Amino acid sequence: MSLFITFEGIEGCGKSTQIGLLKSFLKRIHKSFLVTREPGGTGVGERIRKILLSSENGGMEPMAELFLYAASRVQHLRQVIVPALREGKIVLCDRFADATIAYQGFGRGIDLAWIEQINAHTMEDIKPDLTFILDLPVEEGLKRALKRIERRTVKEDRFEKEALDFHSRVREGYLYLARKEARRIILLDGMKDKQTLHREILFHLPHGFMG
Ligand code: TMP
Repeated sequence: MSLFITFEGIEGCGKSTQIGLLKSFLKRIHKSFLVTREPGGTGVGERIRKILLSSENGGMEPMAELFLYAASRVQHLRQVIVPALREGKIVLCDRFADATIAYQGFGRGIDLAWIEQINAHTMEDIKPDLTFILDLPVEEGLKRALKRIERRTVKEDRFEKEALDFHSRVREGYLYLARKEARRIILLDGMKDKQTLHREILFHLPHGFMG
């Protein structure tokens, strides 16, 4: 059974940890899966990611940013996600189209209806089956994200360097999406410890999934 699961939230929300735990779980129960991310996930996408996240590109126009995320997504969907789903795999994706609503819509202030149109064209009829949003206060998320940046060798910190109110708007965007699409999106309290969150994520997987 193919399944498309995405993970979302502000910087430092703990998505990568949860993707790692779910990945280990899927390995243990011998499921066929693929872990990927946006922006990125393909050769072209990873090169676009570098442009988007490099702090050298501080003057990028919001609209230029929007189109680069869309470009990365089209490539990713056609080259990686759709083929994996066709093969019956479980796809775990670190961020997807909801991030564009939260970051470029709520964060940058680009018209939401417009972004939704671009998303619709980009995604054709593919939508995540399930999305986990890890929600936590912006101050806590940024504290965690900054620690991570200090340890990193590659500098992908253009977004982490945005002001607190930018990240607060992004968080509002995610909360808005969770209210609007309550059937698809599961809102989790990112302040809980990682094992508790992992159990909650397993609980929300479709029935019959373990069989
Ligand atoms: P990551 O560091 O969690 O992988 O995310 C990359 C950054 O890209 C993060 O700051 C959020 C941002 N982003 C957008 O602004 N719009 C998007 O559509 C996506 C997928 C990510």
